[in-house]
Amino acid sequence: MVDDYDKIQAAVEQVRKRVGGFKPEVALILGSGLGDLADDVASAQRIAYEEIPSLPRSTVVGHRGELVLGQLEDTPVAVMRGRVHYYEGYSLQEVTFGVRLLGALGAHTLIVTNASGGVRSDLVPGDLMLLTDHINLMGANPLRGPNDERLGPRFPPMSRAYDLELRELSHKVASSQGFRIKDGVYLGLAGPSFETPAEIHFFGMVGADAIGMSTVPEVIVARHQGMRVLGISCVTNVLHQGPSEDTHEDVLATAAEAGPRFINLVRGVVKAMPGVPAR
Ligand code: HPA
Repeated sequence: MVDDYDKIQAAVEQVRKRVGGFKPEVALILGSGLGDLADDVASAQRIAYEEIPSLPRSTVVGHRGELVLGQLEDTPVAVMRGRVHYYEGYSLQEVTFGVRLLGALGAHTLIVTNASGGVRSDLVPGDLMLLTDHINLMGANPLRGPNDERLGPRFPPMSRAYDLELRELSHKVASSQGFRIKDGVYLGLAGPSFETPAEIHFFGMVGADAIGMSTVPEVIVARHQGMRVLGISCVTNVLHQGPSEDTHEDVLATAAEAGPRFINLVRGVVKAMPGVPAR
């Protein structure tokens, strides 16, 4: 959008009224059932999404809309507790406005999290999976339309969207905490209907390990503006025996069970994270 830049600046200004010159280094987007990490932020300033101009509010249960700024493991962070999704009816520019804001506030790294359905046969509910790559089957791209060079290039590469160094660090942190995280390719769909048996079979054949309804547009925008990205998925249900009969409440409950492991992992990664952003 031509006027996105001005909207981003207006949102930054509003946040600055609350937090002054605070500059986050790491930004986090917390997915379904994973929002409790926001409670661990020290010296926290909390801003409801509706107080920030142009930032859409979530209409989904389990996605409280709150931007939390403060310190996590002595690192300045900005945490989006709750996100909006394409299936809610927002455009992908609206869906990714928060990522624009996080980048404009100064964060060089984005940790993006989600709940997903496991397609690969070794995935079990409660597994944490690092995203190694993604497949965009949302049928849309947040960068469609005129490109503003102040935000990023017209044709940003996606060849190394998920930072290898941060993935290796995450594996090390997990093993030092006594558990193993898996790796996998995340396939993003528009939703909101769940998948048919034929679709699940197809997604497995084309290389998906887990599927979900978020994250992909956010990562595209983060990479467009030069942020380093770490993606962590909580597998809340498995699809290799056929479509899930799980409800949204089941998804939230499984993600909540994995919550403590997820929180320790993210805290450990933020603590051990190298300060210098790699491009
Ligand atoms: N399909 C799509 N998105 C999801 C699922 C699923 O099975 N589980 C959690 N998010």
